[in-house]
Amino acid sequence: MHSFDFSTIVDRTDSLSVKYAPDAIRSICNNAQAMPFWVADMDFSVPPSVSQALAGQVSHGVLGYPYFTNLRQNFCYWSAKRHAWDISLNRIAIGPGMLTSLALMVELFSSPDTTIIIPMPAYKPFVKMAQALKRPWTEWPLEYDEISHRFSFDLEKLESLLKANPSSLLLFCSPHNPTGHVSSDYELDTIASLAKKYNTMVLSDEIHADLTYPSTVHIPFDVAARRQGCRAVTCMAPSKSFNISGEHYCGVVCTDAEDCKAFIDRMQTLFLGPSLLSSVTASAAYAEGYEWLMQLTEYLEHNALHIASFLRDNHTGLHAVVPSASFIGLIDCTEIFERVRKDASRFPRLYDPATSREGGLLSRFFGQRAGIALNDGSWFGSGYDHFVRFNFGTSRQKIDQALENISKAISML
Ligand SMILES: Cc1ncc(COP(=O)(O)O)c(C=O)c1O
Repeated sequence: MHSFDFSTIVDRTDSLSVKYAPDAIRSICNNAQAMPFWVADMDFSVPPSVSQALAGQVSHGVLGYPYFTNLRQNFCYWSAKRHAWDISLNRIAIGPGMLTSLALMVELFSSPDTTIIIPMPAYKPFVKMAQALKRPWTEWPLEYDEISHRFSFDLEKLESLLKANPSSLLLFCSPHNPTGHVSSDYELDTIASLAKKYNTMVLSDEIHADLTYPSTVHIPFDVAARRQGCRAVTCMAPSKSFNISGEHYCGVVCTDAEDCKAFIDRMQTLFLGPSLLSSVTASAAYAEGYEWLMQLTEYLEHNALHIASFLRDNHTGLHAVVPSASFIGLIDCTEIFERVRKDASRFPRLYDPATSREGGLLSRFFGQRAGIALNDGSWFGSGYDHFVRFNFGTSRQKIDQALENISKAISML
């Protein structure tokens, strides 16, 4: 069996990467030179099959209008192989990026008075999407267990929200960004049956699903929705899985073939669709990327556990919220928060919000005092400012450097 390399550090400076752009880094942590552990892409090279397919297309020299006949079949093949999920072709559409596809469906499947329900903390564009499309929206806060440092869905709270807002639209995220929570069969069935009971459609963003760790199983929402008879759209993409997020692409699966047709019609109206190179990369990844992905998920799970044990064993006072999928994890910083606040009042210039508008107190602390750029918890909603989000989709060597810096910075507080 071929062994893939996730340890070699790839130099991403000057590679048109937002994660490594000094101005963008400054905007979240106030230190343009900080090592980046933020934006959700990984530092690994793409699978060899993907780079070969891209090189083949580019070396041809002409990048004209594409014509593909098998994109839905490729998605089908992948879904069955990775998630044991069998889908008939008439329920699948291929969209541009995840966010474009979701925004298009929010517009298509809701009206201006439909309430959008958003699990919190949330990937910020979910909230921006509801606001930009001028839909009323409401928060569905996840439950947080401060002892185990784990999040889970509060199903009673969902029922009370649906009772108050029947015929709404749930913008679900599974596995959940930023908590890394992978939903159980029971949670999915309950959500689907409540959605049916209260006539609510579910749009499920499953962009992190392929990256579920070997110790866990991800169940597509579509499976529960069909069991319970609720109307849903489940979206997956190869972008996070194979580190090709610059090439927007999305598989859209509707419980109802009519919804799939409506989505395709709407894309045609707007002249939207996946591009040539995004389709080449996605096809190669789905056709030949399985073994690479399996090794990657092992590496990521190890990283997640390594971070948690380092923070615990070194008495940092920080607690990792250990995810069950993907390469991003929250860190609970409650125990150091007051000390950081005091540091900020003594050295206000270091924590200047005017030069780091996308950040918060903690991301500025880590940026200035540890030289590492993390997303501040406040980016994911109010009430989460005691957390930061750490992107550990990188080599263990870099992670160790970041952890050492964190530990030293805290000992100076
Ligand atoms: C939950 C979630 N949805 C969507 C996206 C973005 O997807 P796309 O770039 O395909 O629009 C991200 C990226 O971080 C994400 O985490």
